[in-house]
Amino acid sequence: MAVIWENSKTLIIPVGLDRHIINSKAQNFIWQILHLLRPAKLTDLHREKHSCYLRPFLVVGQEHGPTHIASINGICPSERDQFMSQSSNGGKKSGKKNIKTRLMHMGSDPDNFHGFVNTPLFRGSTILYPTLDTYLSRTQKYTYGRRGTPTISALEDSITELEGGHHTALTSSGLSACSVSLLAIVKSGGHILMTDSVYQPVRSLCERLLKRLGVEITYYDPHIGSGISELIQENTQLVYTESPGSLTFEIQDLPAICEVAKSHDIPVLVDNTWGTPLYYNPLKLGASVVIHAGTKYFSGHSDANLGSITTTESYSKIIRQTHGDMGQCPGPEDVTLCLRGIRTLSVRLERHQASALEMANWLVDRPEVASVIHPARKDHPDHALWQRDFNGSSGLFSIILHDVSDTALGAMLDGLDLFGMGASWGGYESLVIPFNPAPNRTATAWKTDGRALRFHIGLEDVEDLKNDLDAGFTRLGANS
Ligand SMILES: Cc1ncc(COP(=O)(O)O)c(C=O)c1O
Repeated sequence: MAVIWENSKTLIIPVGLDRHIINSKAQNFIWQILHLLRPAKLTDLHREKHSCYLRPFLVVGQEHGPTHIASINGICPSERDQFMSQSSNGGKKSGKKNIKTRLMHMGSDPDNFHGFVNTPLFRGSTILYPTLDTYLSRTQKYTYGRRGTPTISALEDSITELEGGHHTALTSSGLSACSVSLLAIVKSGGHILMTDSVYQPVRSLCERLLKRLGVEITYYDPHIGSGISELIQENTQLVYTESPGSLTFEIQDLPAICEVAKSHDIPVLVDNTWGTPLYYNPLKLGASVVIHAGTKYFSGHSDANLGSITTTESYSKIIRQTHGDMGQCPGPEDVTLCLRGIRTLSVRLERHQASALEMANWLVDRPEVASVIHPARKDHPDHALWQRDFNGSSGLFSIILHDVSDTALGAMLDGLDLFGMGASWGGYESLVIPFNPAPNRTATAWKTDGRALRFHIGLEDVEDLKNDLDAGFTRLGANS
């Protein structure tokens, strides 16, 4: 067993525990405690509330003989969890470095994995405890596979750092991240405010499950801003936002909404899948909970299903509990794929951004296109808000076509070579889908005559993408 701390009076060695907690952060922490307490005797140390952190270690008083800290009563699990959930790489590779640099190292901990750069893929349900005492007190970081693994921690820590939050919980899909967040906060008899532009399955969740649980829902105009104050009721429990809407791209005035919500002491939840933490930071703008479909840009390769919920400190306990109560557990492979994907998030996004803008600017000049809906274009109605609150734009936007028949649209889309027709986005490949948000609008009306198409611009060469669409528009014209 390695000695992890030593001075002339005290020696600390780990007691049969996984090496992951004997990292530099743990050593530093123990050192700080001992330093603070010096010249307190070891017996005083036992009474100190922080002694719970020392529980997994054998502390040997060099002068007074061995003392097993594991015999101390009065453990404080919440503090322990807080300590244990801290990122393992918090030291040398975080700090003030640029987010693009930190992305390469966050969540990774080679020292604890024999020097391997990537955190290994941990699969498993059973985790063994070395002693009865450890089992009863649950004083080891990992207790049961569903409740976390080093692979899950690596991704959770990374997303927490990216979002500047307190804690992140991973779920099996983006939609489950939405549902766990909502269910954690609503209570029967309560009321929630939901953006009218919300991702449609979240609306279904509201209309079915939440209504069945006795929750009242008011859909609001995504442009409402501070006007949200007029919709707040005595029983309002949260405001849910998605900015921009992932089909119709309304940008919400999040700071204004958060200010109102704060004055009523209710949280604002944000689906930040489009902006990603590189281009949008909802917690800095006053939100309490940030949701991601990690399925999209975090993973980036269309091969994983994953969700994340990042919270401020105030909401971390309730989200953590509900996440546990609902048995949420992401697939280990999906977590590993997402960890791999997140390292290249900044370079992929730069390319998605540049290519999508170029395609949007090209499309706006096409005679077949009535309008382009892209928040980073000056002609977008919310462009000023986007400029104020976002640092960039991603690869997803929509267009409205001049009136076309189904046959003509079919001829265009069916014959596309590079653009696939698929519901997801955020991967390396380009996609297109037709959509009609009108039936899912209740607070606002979707008023356009033409057919709407949503594009995801992938990482292909832009000229090739233009050529593919150009040929598509020719087929559209020939079949009109
Ligand atoms: C904005 C948004 N949020 C959440 C989700 C749900 O993610 P998942 O498909 O991983 O459940 C999606 C999926 O398309 C989405 O577009």
